[in-house]
Amino acid sequence: MQRAMLFDSGVGGLSILSALENAGLALAVDYVADTAWLPYGEKPDDLLKARIPRVIVAAAKKLQPNVIVIACNTASTLALEEIRESVGVPVVGVVPAIKPAAAASRTQVIGLLATPATVRRAYTDALIEAHAAGVTVIRAGSADLVLAAEEALAGHAPARSRIMAALDALFKQPRGDEIDIVVLACTHFPLLTKELAEAAPAGVQFMDSGEAVARRTAQLLALPTGQGRVQRQTAMATSEHGLLALRAAGFASVALLPVDA
Ligand code: DGL
Repeated sequence: MQRAMLFDSGVGGLSILSALENAGLALAVDYVADTAWLPYGEKPDDLLKARIPRVIVAAAKKLQPNVIVIACNTASTLALEEIRESVGVPVVGVVPAIKPAAAASRTQVIGLLATPATVRRAYTDALIEAHAAGVTVIRAGSADLVLAAEEALAGHAPARSRIMAALDALFKQPRGDEIDIVVLACTHFPLLTKELAEAAPAGVQFMDSGEAVARRTAQLLALPTGQGRVQRQTAMATSEHGLLALRAAGFASVALLPVDA
C-alpha cells in the first residue's frame, strides 16, 4: 500500500485526513505535527521558512512516504518551493480555496478566514489577483481559532464568544454583510465548521480545500477514489504535549520526532 505523509503545525491536518478518508482512498497515512512551534500563523516568515523543511525532511527520513501533503495553508503559502527542493517525492500543498469560492459566490463578496500569516501573504494576493478579479475579498486573520480547534480536539468545546470574535472580524467589516461564502483557509478551521455555521449569518456557506487536495493526492498516486480505506498509521509530534492530542486520533502508533530548535 502507498504511504502519504501529512504535515501540519498541529491537529489541523486532520481535516485533510478526513477529506482523504471521504474520498475512499486505499492509502496508509502517517501524520506529522510540529507542535513545538504551534501556532505557525504568528511566527516570522524567515524562521518558518528555515524550520518547516527541516522538520519535513527529518520526518520523511523515518516514514519514507510516496507523497507528502503539506496540510497547512500557512506552510504551503510560504515554503512550498523550499519543501519541494528538499525532498525526493511529490508534494501536495494546501492553499486557500479562493478560485471555487469566487466562482460560486452570488454576491461577489467572499470572506477569507485564515491565520494572520496567510492573510497577509504575497501568495494569497496572487491567488486573489488570478482567480478573484472583480470579486471583493474581505480578509480576517485569527490565531485564536487555531488554538480553539486544538482545544476542541482535546475535548474542550470552544466558547461561542471566541467563534463570534473570529466571525465578527469578517462580517463587521465594510460590505461584510454581503459575504455569502467564507473560505476556511487554515486547516484547523474546518474542524470547527459546526460551531462556525451555527454562529454565522443564515445562508452563509463555508468552503475549504480538503476535497481538491484529496483529488490531487489520488491523481499523483494513480489511486482510484471510492474504492479503498485510509489506514491511520504513525503519528509524530515535535513536542510531548503534541503527542497527547494525536493519541486520541486513532493512529496505530504515536512517537516523538526530535528536531533541533
Ligand atoms: N493549520 C495551519 C494552517 O492551515 C496553521 C495553524 C497555525 O497557525 O499553526 O494554516
